[in-house]
Amino acid sequence: MHASWVTLILPLVSAVTVPIPLSPGNAPSVSGNLVSLSIEQDRWLDWVGNVTRNSFFFNTLDNLVSLTGDAPTIRIGADSEDHTNFNPSVPFIQQLFPPPTTTVPYPEATSIVAGPGFYKGAQFLPTGTGVTWGVNFGGKNLTAVFLETQAILAAFASPALANAGITLDFLELGNEADLYRNNGLRSSSYSISQYTAEWITFATNMTRTANLAGSDTRIWGAAFAGSSHTSTDFSPQGIFANNILTSEPGKFINTISQHHYSGSFCFGSGGLLQDLMTKATIRSNLSSFIPDIQATQSHNLDYVLGETNSYSCHGAPGVSNTAGAALWTLDYALFSSQLGISKVFFHEGIGYKYNLIQPETLTRSTLDGSPLATPLKPHVQPQYYAAIITAEAIGDSGQTQALEININDARIAGYAFYENGALKRAVFINSLAFLKSTTTNRTSTHLALTFSGTGTKPTTFSVKRLVIGHADDGSGLTWGGQTYETADARVGGTATSETGTVAAGIDIPATQAILVTFN
Ligand SMILES: *[C@@H]1O[C@H](CO)[C@@H](O)[C@H](O)[C@H]1NC(C)=O
Ligand SMILES: *[C@@H]1O[C@H](CO)[C@@H](O)[C@H](O)[C@H]1NC(C)=O
Ligand SMILES: *[C@@H]1O[C@H](CO)[C@@H](O)[C@H](O)[C@H]1NC(C)=O
Ligand SMILES: *[C@@H]1O[C@H](CO)[C@@H](O)[C@H](O)[C@H]1NC(C)=O
Ligand SMILES: *[C@@H]1O[C@H](CO)[C@@H](O)[C@H](O)[C@H]1NC(C)=O
Repeated sequence: MHASWVTLILPLVSAVTVPIPLSPGNAPSVSGNLVSLSIEQDRWLDWVGNVTRNSFFFNTLDNLVSLTGDAPTIRIGADSEDHTNFNPSVPFIQQLFPPPTTTVPYPEATSIVAGPGFYKGAQFLPTGTGVTWGVNFGGKNLTAVFLETQAILAAFASPALANAGITLDFLELGNEADLYRNNGLRSSSYSISQYTAEWITFATNMTRTANLAGSDTRIWGAAFAGSSHTSTDFSPQGIFANNILTSEPGKFINTISQHHYSGSFCFGSGGLLQDLMTKATIRSNLSSFIPDIQATQSHNLDYVLGETNSYSCHGAPGVSNTAGAALWTLDYALFSSQLGISKVFFHEGIGYKYNLIQPETLTRSTLDGSPLATPLKPHVQPQYYAAIITAEAIGDSGQTQALEININDARIAGYAFYENGALKRAVFINSLAFLKSTTTNRTSTHLALTFSGTGTKPTTFSVKRLVIGHADDGSGLTWGGQTYETADARVGGTATSETGTVAAGIDIPATQAILVTFN
């Protein structure tokens, strides 16, 4: 009687066992800036500020600094990196944009001439920020490499940056050179051996101009759009096989950067959003890089996703800009850490659909380019909450290890977080898309918490929930009762408090993430 009564009133709750190891073993260490940002170089100053700081953007970063003690690292470059020239008499930047289209409402500049102030803009980043800067290789113009490198070095040597501890951690030479054979920047037969030889020539100039032998700045290698996973075509294995690492500039490569998008969809749908969020597709997308990560680590190099986001076209409308994409971001970044990816740089550009942050007032729709009756003030998009949740889960110990919890459920992902070897927190994600068009009741999954291994078993915990109306909502999320959708990007509203016991477990509704902090 009792059991059927429970079944009757809670028909939509399924249950899953969550076995949490009490100690991390050799789980990967995760830095507080696991979630970092890649910024399209053309409108870099719109992000950071030219003569004064863009305080909205600064606040979005500073929120994360206050949670982890680590400033998100910033890569400035991407497609427009290969279309940038330098002119010392341009104070900041001069550029030409093609007209907006419905699918690309905020196109990248076709021509960019940067001056000294363009690079000095980095002074407005939070203290201690590490920067990667992309240098033009697409243009095959040694003068551009030379002048840009000099200007980047001069900016980071200036007192404004040096005193704030804002450092040039990496240079990158060329963006997605594996696409040059398709986009006209090189011949259609451009091979990995031609690329490597040419890269070494240009990077030798960059390396000497930047005096890398006498500095802590290093180089990101590869930065390819895709990977052949073979030594005969574009991939980390391909550049290693062509002896990049023993070349003069190659000795300064200590990180391999890979770019990745989950696909190219210029139009969205609920089905596409569910595909993006789905645990299995996140894992299959990222696991394809395992051979590359192993090849990279066998040379004692670090491996990052130096540019990534949901779908190309700057995002699919109604998908990339939604709350469901926030859950994708959270699972994608945390699962990356499990494969040995040390940082995940989510790509951002002014007005792009898949941004975590829109740092500037927008006058046309990011979704279809139509003029907006009321301009959109600077704001965060749903994915920003994933950066906040990741930051809170990792915390500020500087010693955190993260371990995926083995949960036998296609919709529930979980990660445990340890400090100095002790279990502290766990994140759970229910990636079943509850859409505006969903006609059935919202389901919920009960998590029965169990512990394995040695250590003190926690008995109680506190909970923060990322509460989402619908997976395809573009705004209106709350995190522990609070919002980051404020005029200055500082957290607003009153925090809610929820506690639970291990014995009772916890329920997680469809399209929600929770952070459990064990007592
Ligand atoms: C600085 O940026 C602001 C806001 O984007 C713009 O209006 C102004 O023209 C820029 N100033 C210079 C000197 O480029
Ligand atoms: C080469 O680069 C320099 C500096 O960026 C630029 O002034 C010059 O126009 C470029 N040359 C060509 C052929 O693009
Ligand atoms: C780099 O190339 C520029 C332009 O050709 C040249 O002026 C400069 O001397 C080169 N620097 C080094 C260190 O090779
Ligand atoms: C990557 O994820 C997308 C869904 O976002 C899926 O359509 C695609 O098939 C996945 N690719 C791989 C290689 O798993
Ligand atoms: C959906 O929820 C409502 C309100 O809680 C309830 O009345 C209804 O029976 C539920 N429908 C189904 C199919 O379970």
